[in-house]
Amino acid sequence: MTTAPLLEFIAREHPAFVHIPLGLVAVLPLAMLASFHPRHVRLWTGTSFFLALVGWLGSTVALASGLLWGRQIALIPPKAYLPVVATEKQVLQRILQVHELAALSGFVIGGFCVWLLWRSWRQMDAPEGTRRRRHGGRRFWERGVGAGPLLVAILWLGCWGLSGKLGGIMVFGNEETNRAAAEADAAKRADVEADLPIRALDYASLEPITRVPVQSRAHGNRWQRIWVTASGADAYQAGRPLPPGAYAVLSTFEDDKGRPSHEPGPLYMKEVKADGSQAFVFYWPRVPEAQRGEVGGQDSAYWRSPDPHLATCTGCHEKVGRP
Ligand code: HEC
Repeated sequence: MTTAPLLEFIAREHPAFVHIPLGLVAVLPLAMLASFHPRHVRLWTGTSFFLALVGWLGSTVALASGLLWGRQIALIPPKAYLPVVATEKQVLQRILQVHELAALSGFVIGGFCVWLLWRSWRQMDAPEGTRRRRHGGRRFWERGVGAGPLLVAILWLGCWGLSGKLGGIMVFGNEETNRAAAEADAAKRADVEADLPIRALDYASLEPITRVPVQSRAHGNRWQRIWVTASGADAYQAGRPLPPGAYAVLSTFEDDKGRPSHEPGPLYMKEVKADGSQAFVFYWPRVPEAQRGEVGGQDSAYWRSPDPHLATCTGCHEKVGRP
């Protein structure tokens, strides 16, 4: 990842930045409460407005850096604003969703609060005649900045407090996130093909079904050879479905213009799992520059079911009834 050092800094320091707006909004209700004192209304209303404004503006840096950071560590997809939660197991993503929504709600409520405070502060500057007197003689909740804005500020603090608490959990972990991380780690260790499709790469140890490369329209007109595990070779040749545990690999050959050659092209794999379901793999370790358009501009591709890139494989194989 090549990000400018400044952006990198802004992203990584998100946990530090957030304390400035949060701290200001934490003292805001106190300043607002102080404005209820009949002798200091103007001073404390002004102070409250200043605290709220700086906290609110400061929070834009915190919001932006949080989004940058989330994208940098791939919790949020590159062009998205919220993480995608695909399974219940993605504890971090689930917490991050609520964290972001709470932060944003706080931002909206905060904007409203700043406006309310600006309004009361301005009214105090108005000439004596037009100004609504807010102290002395008034009922308690009508003094100073008023009870309504005070409640709004407390709601604002509540949203950011929740967001901050969840942020702390994401950074320092709690029981649930630690368990999820340990489980993901164990699953990755048990998954020997997480980084390389080892069985597909070892296709030459399988039974060759086709002796010479033949052109396949189904797979981008590539020239391919088919290899099938011994456990499935007979069934494959008889046109029957592969038994559970069997798999087939297509090795392909082409040059960077897509013409037949001795250059290895992408590997395709189809596996029948123990439960009878099908899984696909697409592996293209070095994509020639001219062909990167086929794989979204990447210089290499390794996709495994349920990767969304493989939806076309599943779709066509179901349609043509390839067992
Ligand atoms: C347009 C339809 C279509 C698409 C898309 C497609 N296939 Fe196939 N696939 C076929 C057909 C038809 C065959 C039979 C051999 C041939 O014609 O190449 C086949 C054969 C295979 C085989 C050999 C085992 C078998 O079932 O015959 C594998 C492995 C395979 N495909 C993997 C994939 C993967 C991985 C993808 C996605 C990256 C994919 N296929 C996309 C139609 C398709």
